[in-house]
Amino acid sequence: MNKDIKNYACPYCGEKCRSADELKEHVFQAHKGRGLPAPEGSIKLTVNKAEYVIRVAPNWTLYYLIHDKLGLTGTKQFCDQGACGSCTMIVDGKPVLSCMLLAIECGGKVIETVEGIAADGHPLIEAYVNNHAMQCGYCTPGFVVTSKALLDRHPDPTEEEIVEALAGNLCRCSTYPQHPIAVREAAGKMKAAKK
Ligand code: FES
Ligand code: FES
Repeated sequence: MNKDIKNYACPYCGEKCRSADELKEHVFQAHKGRGLPAPEGSIKLTVNKAEYVIRVAPNWTLYYLIHDKLGLTGTKQFCDQGACGSCTMIVDGKPVLSCMLLAIECGGKVIETVEGIAADGHPLIEAYVNNHAMQCGYCTPGFVVTSKALLDRHPDPTEEEIVEALAGNLCRCSTYPQHPIAVREAAGKMKAAKK
């Protein structure tokens, strides 16, 4: 284990620590006198291949945990009502609206965000740029993550299948025609890379 990796985040201030013991000591030292509970009963989850142990409040959504507490700000939140798809993350292989899922339900889950997809050099990233499949870009992470989940289960989707898979993602800039083109291009590159 790399001792320099700080995967234990303080639930009160976001400070990153190297171990559960270090986190407990941090909470004790930095937040003593506030009557805060020690970070017992934390959940453990994997985000973009890194393991985190973090105490979560019962009302935190997965979006809030990942975006505000772990600092992975690539995922966006348009509506906070389960209606737009901009907050989509992949949870145990399935696209999920992270504004609608409680963080406390995510113990043991494997989560992938747009940062992880980009870090892996997935061809979707380049295909989205090549095909101008964005304008303001606010909805784009949600589209990319939903498309990645589609390509994971269906590496060569038709245009109709892509449109259907992306039907829950909304774009105020109306970039809809470009998404199937970008996803088809990424699928083609994945296919060529396998040959
Ligand atoms: S922000 Fe989650 S669906 Fe809109
Ligand atoms: S690119 Fe602006 S909302 Fe989709």
